[in-house]
Amino acid sequence: MTDGEQGARDAEGTGTFVRLAQQGHVRSAEAVAADFNMPWAYALAEARAESLDGRLFGRKPSGQGGNGTAGRRIQLPAGENSFQKALSEAHANSFKTGKFHNVRAKTQNHFFTITAELACRRVFTYVALPVAQNKDTRVAGEILTVSRPRVKVWLTFEKNTENLRMKLCIIGTGYVGLVSAACFAEMGNTVTCIDVNAAVVEKLNAGSVHIFEPGLEEMVQRGRADGRLRFTTNLADGLAGADCAFICVGTPSLPDGSCNLDYVRGVARDIGRSMQTNLIVVDKSTVPVGTADMVRGLIEEELAARQCGLAATVVSNPEFLKEGAALADFIKPDRVVVGTDSDRAATVMRELYAPFARTRDKILVMTPRSAEMTKYAANCMLATKISFINEIAAICERVGADVRDVRAGIGSDTRIGYQFIYPGLGYGGSCFPKDVKALIHTAAEAGVEPLLLNAVEAVNFRQKQSMALRIEEYFAPQGGVRGKTLALWGLAFKANTDDMREAASISIISHLTDRGMKVRAFDPVAGENARRIFKENRLVEIVNGQYDVCDGAQALLVATEWNQFRNPDFERVKSLLTSPLFFDGRNLYSPAAMAERGFAYFCVGRKTV
Ligand SMILES: NC(=O)c1ccc[n+]([C@@H]2O[C@H](COP(=O)([O-])OP(=O)(O)OC[C@H]3O[C@@H](n4cnc5c(N)ncnc54)[C@H](O)[C@@H]3O)[C@@H](O)[C@H]2O)c1
Repeated sequence: MTDGEQGARDAEGTGTFVRLAQQGHVRSAEAVAADFNMPWAYALAEARAESLDGRLFGRKPSGQGGNGTAGRRIQLPAGENSFQKALSEAHANSFKTGKFHNVRAKTQNHFFTITAELACRRVFTYVALPVAQNKDTRVAGEILTVSRPRVKVWLTFEKNTENLRMKLCIIGTGYVGLVSAACFAEMGNTVTCIDVNAAVVEKLNAGSVHIFEPGLEEMVQRGRADGRLRFTTNLADGLAGADCAFICVGTPSLPDGSCNLDYVRGVARDIGRSMQTNLIVVDKSTVPVGTADMVRGLIEEELAARQCGLAATVVSNPEFLKEGAALADFIKPDRVVVGTDSDRAATVMRELYAPFARTRDKILVMTPRSAEMTKYAANCMLATKISFINEIAAICERVGADVRDVRAGIGSDTRIGYQFIYPGLGYGGSCFPKDVKALIHTAAEAGVEPLLLNAVEAVNFRQKQSMALRIEEYFAPQGGVRGKTLALWGLAFKANTDDMREAASISIISHLTDRGMKVRAFDPVAGENARRIFKENRLVEIVNGQYDVCDGAQALLVATEWNQFRNPDFERVKSLLTSPLFFDGRNLYSPAAMAERGFAYFCVGRKTV
């Protein structure tokens, strides 16, 4: 038979199969399972047409029987992770007939669903599809296409999450609170968010989000539309019937570097005054060791004053998300740290986080103190890596080495790794600076001299000043920076966020404007926040156009690594600046290429051209 004849026959065969299916001769796996009254069955979708054996596939099935018993029975094991086990068993079983492709998971209407495409070879007349159903789980299959010798089917595994749903109250709707709330609601929980800032609550209730975080607004809107996410300023309302209350308020630095726990204390007391049922109180804010005990003490004081006989269990559950990638970090966390001495609280937290830990067990249960310390240790380790590479970059500049090559050279060692060793303008943001300070404070209070952490902070301070000093030095022979204009790209402390807390741009702008330089700055999303920060500084202008800032400026500095700065129109930049002078605080470009483009180019830890 030629290929053409074979193709024509396949087409005819497929058409025949589809007609037979339409006439009801090809039955779904569910129908077959129902016939056999098998609640847990590995049933067969049958192409029950005499003519099919002869005409469609040209031969009879061998070794498979033909009486509807070929499928292997599959039992969904009981207990934790039964769903995953069932899936892997079904997966292993599929090797008999074919392989799964396009495995996808989603949550909708209280069902956690995995769909997979099974392309079966050698299936002839019988396609084995797993079917199972009870109130918690549905497993179903559907024939999609038939094209000899392959049959494509969709297998749908659904886990009803309704009975796992919880009612949550999230207190503080900033980066951590709002992201947590949206993600918990996405997984079917009912979440009420509380914030003392009425304007923020009003905005959220109007369907928009007050912070920039990719994908967050859409997720919040989904949660609101499904009635699983709501916002209020009324704590008692949010606590009514809640299983858990999450504390997600800010914990900024006090002038002495210690952590300001005023907001946490205030919330703890408010919870004690308002709760009407026993409650698990989860501390997600980053707080010093011992805070869970303090929160429990404050709640107990309020409960005792009310003589209501209620009790609260306090859990430490620090958050590790990164702004700019917060949703992905929350949905697929590296780990979920749960600090508790209560078995019941640990079980509740396991259930709550189960949808975020499907691939492996990610829940690390430890004491509250260890959990609190883990968060500080993680952030301080990351800050240490940043200060380390920045110090190496400073040495590279003096000794004629290139930090880009050095980074590649050390990052390839798996003990070191490539992450968090990008030289730049120093760490900023709402976490690292205050958390390093807070741990220094904790160490000192505990009688440990924090030699390393002090150095990490000192290096970071120097690094944040470094570009401003370099600009000052450059203009010194030309009468200094006074009266000159610097164009600035990037104000946020890093890309993909509008957060300007402790941003390097603030140190640089303040240093240069204190010395009389004008700064004209652009950021894709942080402009509004910057306007608020610099509203008293007449030398700062926040401009909406990336290239407009360059017009008539003496130099351009890149301070944030936004994608849109990675490959700009250099000719346009050159034509707008009064001289082709480029300071790159993020090492986005190659010194050789910048020299070719005709720029005087300064970057971090690499050759100046
Ligand atoms: N931002 C991050 O990337 C990040 C990551 C991990 C951990 N953390 C930690 O999480 C905590 C929160 O950080 P954030 O960045 O989300 O803060 P944020 O400043 O963005 O938000 C805090 C919110 O809490 C609200 N609030 C203050 N007091 C309140 C009260 N009594 N009742 C209700 N709401 C109140 C504020 O109005 C604000 O909206 C901090 O401890 C921080 O260190 C932050």
